[in-house]
Formats: sequence, structure tokens, C-alpha cells
Amino acid sequence: MPRLNSAADLEKIRQEILAHRDPNKPCVTICSGTACHAYACEEVAEAFVKEIEKNGLQKKVDVRRTGCHGFCERGPLVVIFPKEICYLRVKPEDVPEITSTTLIEKKLVDRLLYMDDSGQRIMREGDIPFYKHQSRIIFGNNRLIEPKRIDDYIALGGYSALAKALFEMTPEQVLDEVKRANLRGRGGGGFPAGIKWETTRNAPGEPKYVVVNADEGDPGVYQDRSVLEGNPHSVLEGLTIGAYAIGSHQGFVYVRQEYPLAVENLTAALEQAREYGFLGANILGSGFDFDVKVHRGAGAFVSGESSALMTAIEGRVGEPRPKYIRTAVSGIWEKPTNLNNVKTWVTVPLIINRGAEWFTSIGTEGSKGTMIFSLVGKVNNTGLVEVPMGMTLRELIFDIGGGIPQGKRFKGVQTGGPSGGIIPEKFLDLPIDFDELAKVGSMMGSGGMIVLDETNCMVDTARYFLNFLTGESCGKCIPCREGIHQMLKILNRICDGKGRKGDIELLEEMAEVVRDASLCALGQTVPNPVLSTIKYFRDEYEAHIKEKRCPAGVCKALIAYYIEQEKCPACMICLRECPVEAITGGKNLIHIIDQDKCTKCGACLEVCPPRFGAITKLSGVKVPEPARQGTAVTRTRGGRNE
Ligand SMILES: Cc1cc2nc3c(=O)[nH]c(=O)nc-3n(C[C@H](O)[C@H](O)[C@H](O)COP(=O)(O)O)c2cc1C
Ligand code: FES
Repeated sequence: MPRLNSAADLEKIRQEILAHRDPNKPCVTICSGTACHAYACEEVAEAFVKEIEKNGLQKKVDVRRTGCHGFCERGPLVVIFPKEICYLRVKPEDVPEITSTTLIEKKLVDRLLYMDDSGQRIMREGDIPFYKHQSRIIFGNNRLIEPKRIDDYIALGGYSALAKALFEMTPEQVLDEVKRANLRGRGGGGFPAGIKWETTRNAPGEPKYVVVNADEGDPGVYQDRSVLEGNPHSVLEGLTIGAYAIGSHQGFVYVRQEYPLAVENLTAALEQAREYGFLGANILGSGFDFDVKVHRGAGAFVSGESSALMTAIEGRVGEPRPKYIRTAVSGIWEKPTNLNNVKTWVTVPLIINRGAEWFTSIGTEGSKGTMIFSLVGKVNNTGLVEVPMGMTLRELIFDIGGGIPQGKRFKGVQTGGPSGGIIPEKFLDLPIDFDELAKVGSMMGSGGMIVLDETNCMVDTARYFLNFLTGESCGKCIPCREGIHQMLKILNRICDGKGRKGDIELLEEMAEVVRDASLCALGQTVPNPVLSTIKYFRDEYEAHIKEKRCPAGVCKALIAYYIEQEKCPACMICLRECPVEAITGGKNLIHIIDQDKCTKCGACLEVCPPRFGAITKLSGVKVPEPARQGTAVTRTRGGRNE
């Protein structure tokens, strides 16, 4: 491919690509994101290639391996265009039927379509409730692009924003557009991107650097990975436009080691972008030079923090430093450095192409545009969800997420990753944006959203996040290193049934010290899970401490499993299932759990047939004395004991 030397060259090649594409030609797209790879999507893709060949359809049907579509829980996803027929959980053995029924006979394979609550089958991907309420301005192109084919990106107008910026706008105008759009950073704090860009641009010192933060160390969050894997050119285009506005000629993508597919697709995209002239010297013949290096992070959560990330790029241990001088002024090798999250960068080409007015028409007063959330936990439809800022938690969790599985009660939602807060049911109608989440003691953070139901213990949940953060604290500053550790010790003893009077107040006091005295935002935000659970679920803390009771029945030290002898038919199912042989009894002999041997794994409760319901979980009450071992059971006609 010859280098493109002007905006006209780009438009010409786009027209050529489109001329070779028939929009009515069936195209089978197979989601090939990391989650779908775990479900063997590659075998599905290979099966399609073979089956299409076997039926002589090579010229009539295209096959494309795309990035993540978002509905990962139902993967591998196969979407057949132009009708957008969406098949879920497709296995290689389904492929011959899809080929003969859908590609040849033009009929649907009903059993692979989405079925809604009323039993109705839904054909179009966009009509599935999970997608229907979303606004996928950033993520939507993932399903149309094969990440290693730059032509797919160009066909959709890719790199046209870069051409517009380079040939129709001055760097100041680009900066002004981003400022007017009020684009706030999508990686954590929601700092206005335009203002940060301006600071780096105006800071003394050369060279200046621009960096993509794709560290994404939060548990349960993977939207940056999915964008980078599925649409790497959009990240490069946004970064190059930013570099032009800021006056930088060197960029970095900091991507965590655990994202091999993202690195593979990004590396391929970098090579193609250089070949086409979108990167390197004299980009598109504009006279602007810019190139990008990939830096693979070593998998530490704290290395996603701006100063730690820059230290790691310099080749040192990724630890934060005090930011008396901001990294925008003194970053990598003490040079002005602008860092933005993956989602922030990919929004830039949209703003340049469609304008600040279009962007500010989406979202709330203080938070414009959309946000991609990773919706996980106790919710029916898990996956990646892109919605306009201002959508309520209720709409997101119930309309898109399909509510709580097994009809259980919603209890709370953890937003913003491990150092976010837990928001209770009374705020379900809260519009989600940077400021509203902060007002209720949580944050937008990286877009993590973990739904919790009545079976989640809030003390245990706070302990889980503090346990993660204790391991991730870099240990450089004492308040964070020692403070989180001590807070975790208190939470551990509360969960272990050894909580003391005054523990809640001590946690509150320590949380304040850690928040106010820590060096970086890891320590400064650690109190969120603890303070929010104390604020909204104080009764649960009190039950643990005063009554030695775990209301949700989670904390092992505070629960016991007990067989109700009048309900137990002595069927031996639980007895056989118990992994530590804690259940004694026999055929027609009463079953008894030895409380000293029991490890509280709950296997007996799970296997006891619901028609007997003989096993109960107790908390805060004494376990009743069982009958003597060897006592025979007597049955009624219904199968229960008398
Ligand atoms: C402990 C810690 C981890 C962080 N991890 C990330 C991360 O993985 N990705 C990210 O974009 N920002 C992360 N941040 C926020 C960054 O410090 C920085 O604010 C962000 O990358 C700036 O980009 P933005 O303005 O586009 O949001 C982290 C912050 C802290 C304190
Ligand atoms: S990886 Fe396939 S839908 Fe997300």
C-alpha cells in the first residue's frame, strides 16, 4: 500500500474500499474478543470458513472476526449482516445449520436467537433489551470492524477526523473544540481533557509526550481492553489528534501485560497506520510528525496512577510520587506529558468530526457524552454497556441488565472499581454522572459496576475490596501501607465474629486519616467502600459486632448449617456431597452435621432437594441439639418425617 499524502488520498482510498463492498452481501461476523475466545470463538470462525467453502459460498458471503460486542455473557456472538441476525452462544456444531438455514434458505435458527421474558424470540441484535437502551457511539463500531484490517476502519470514516484536524484546523482550534465539548477524562477523576491538554501545550520543555492509559487494573473491568482489542485505530487516531493539538511528536500506549490480544491488535494497527501514512514523519503530507511506542505494564493496579505509570515508562518501578508539580507539566523524564484514558482518546475523533455542539447535546449539565460500564455481579445480563451520562442506575441495572437473577432483592451497586463506594437501593433513580456519584460517596472511576443482592454481606464486601487494595498499595507512604492493613484487620475480626464495641468508630477515624494523609489517590480513595457501607448499611456492622450475626449469611464464622430432622427423609444426598464428611447418618437414619468438622462450604444446602428443604443456614442463634446418632427416621406419605 503506498503512503497517503493528503486528505484527498484518504477520501479516494475510502471510496475505492466502499466500491468493492456490496452492502447487501451477507457478512458473518464472529465476536473474537477475549471473553468469546474463552468460549472457543476461533473454532466457530474456522467452522464458518470451512462450511462456506464446502457450500461454494466464498464469493457470496464474507466472514469477519470482530472485537467484543459487549454481551459477553452470551458469547460467542455471531451477527449476520445486513439483517443483523444475532445468534448467541454459538458452538462449532451449530455452524452447518446456520449455513444451510440462514445463509442458503434465508430462514432463522430460532433456538440460537435471544428469547425475552415473554418467550418471544428476537432477531436483530439492536432489538435485544440489552442493546436497545444503549447509545453505542464509541463501542458500536467494534462489531463492524476486523481489528487487523485497517480498511474496515477507513470504510467507516476512520482517520477522517485526523485529516480534518491536520488540514482544516489549527492546533488551537482542535484544543478549543475539545474544551468546548467539555470532555471529561474517562479514567477516574473526570478532569476536563481540554484543560489538561492546554497545560501540557503551554508548559515549558521539549519534547512533550502524550500517553494512553490502558493499564485497567481494577477487578471486573475490561472496557479499555475491549476498545483496544476491537478498534485499535480509533485509539491511535484520537492520540494523534491530541498530539497535534498539544505539540507532541512522541506517544506511548501503556497497556497491561495481561492483555496479549490487545497488544497483538494494537501492534498490527501501528504497523498499518505507519504504512498508510497516519503515523510517522509528515503524516498525510501535512508536515506533522508523530509516532507511538507500546509499553507493557507489569500488572500492578497502582501503576495505572499517572505518576507511577510515567515512572514505569522511564524503566523504573511503577510507584507514585507526590504531585507538587503535575505530570501535565513535568511527567516522563520531567517533560510535559499528557495522559488520558483509552475511552477519553477514542472520543476525540467523534468530537472533531461531529463538533462540540453534538457532543454536548448528549449527557448531563456537568458530564457530557456517554460512558462505557462493565456491568457485572448479581445481574441477569452482564457485559459492557455504553449509555449516555445521566441514565439512572435503575434503567441501567433493570432495563439493560435485566434485573437480579432468581428474583432476589437488589441490595446495592459498587461503582468506580475497588475504591468506589457502594450505593444502596434508595438511590436507584440517581442519574449516573461524575458529580452525582461523588455526592453519594462513590465515583465513576473506570466504569466498574458490580451489582449486589440480598445474599451479599456489606461488611464482607468492604473487606474484599480492602483486601485487594492492601495487596496493591505500593507501600511507599505509611498512611496507605499501614492504614489499609489496620483497617483490614478490623474488618477481618468483625467478619470473624470478634468485632468489638467502638470498631465502627475506629474504622471511620482511620478512614479519614488514610484519605487525608496518603500520597496518591489509591490511599485517598480507599475509605470509600468502608465509609459508604458504614453509612448505608450500619445495621449490618452492628449485627456482626453486637449479635455476632451476619444478616446475609455470608461470614463463615457467624453461620452454621443445620439439618431439620422433621423435614429430612434421610436420602443421603447431602451426606455423600459433603467434602469433609461432616455429615453422619445413613439410609433411614437421621442425618446430623458435626459442627466442629463443618467448613461452611454450603454444599449440603445446595444439593438438598427443594421439596425437602431440610437444611437451614443459621446466624446469630444457637444451633439446636440434634437427636442421638443412629436414630431412625419415620416417613409420612409425602416423604417427610413424622
Ligand atoms: C491506583 C490508581 C489506579 C489507576 N488506574 C488507572 C487505569 O488503569 N486507567 C486509567 O485510565 N486511569 C487510572 N487511574 C487514573 C489516572 O491516574 C489518571 O487520572 C487517568 O489516567 C487520566 O486520564 P483521564 O483524564 O482521561 O481520565 C488510576 C489512578 C489511581 C490512583
Ligand atoms: S468478547 Fe464477545 S461479546 Fe464480549
